[in-house]
Amino acid sequence: MEFLRLVLVFLHLLGMAMLIGTFMLQLHAGQGAKLNKGWLHGGGLQLITGLALMGIDPALDDIDYNPVKVGVKILVLLVILGLAGGFLRKPAAPKWLSFTLGGLVVLNVGLAVFWP
Ligand code: HEM
Repeated sequence: MEFLRLVLVFLHLLGMAMLIGTFMLQLHAGQGAKLNKGWLHGGGLQLITGLALMGIDPALDDIDYNPVKVGVKILVLLVILGLAGGFLRKPAAPKWLSFTLGGLVVLNVGLAVFWP
């Protein structure tokens, strides 16, 4: 079970990297560019791996994930996915959107690391 947790954490960290990479790509694409689908792909990976980690929690010996912290992380991620889903079909992503999505990703990294 510990190996499965490590695989899920590995994928969870790659999902975070995908979201930060998408933020960079979105900035590079500049104003007038469409929203990159990477927001949905990276966000989806975070949701699946995060929920799977919560799912195996009862079977883990020494680990008890904080349900309030994870609940807040899920809420932040749902805002990311909601905004990304809503703006994906628009011809151009507004400038504030990239920084809002990127800021929310960084917020979740901060919650993951600093909230015990
Ligand atoms: C933008 C979304 C997210 C980002 C950037 C993110 C980032 C991170 C990072 C960096 C860690 C490692 C922290 C550490 O080892 O100290 C982590 C751990 C974790 N995350 Fe997330 N996360 C996100 C969404 C979620 C969601 C939605 C869930 C739950 C459904 C979740 C559940 C967890 C759990 C349970 C861990 C602990 C894994 C372990 O160390 O065994 N995360 N997250």
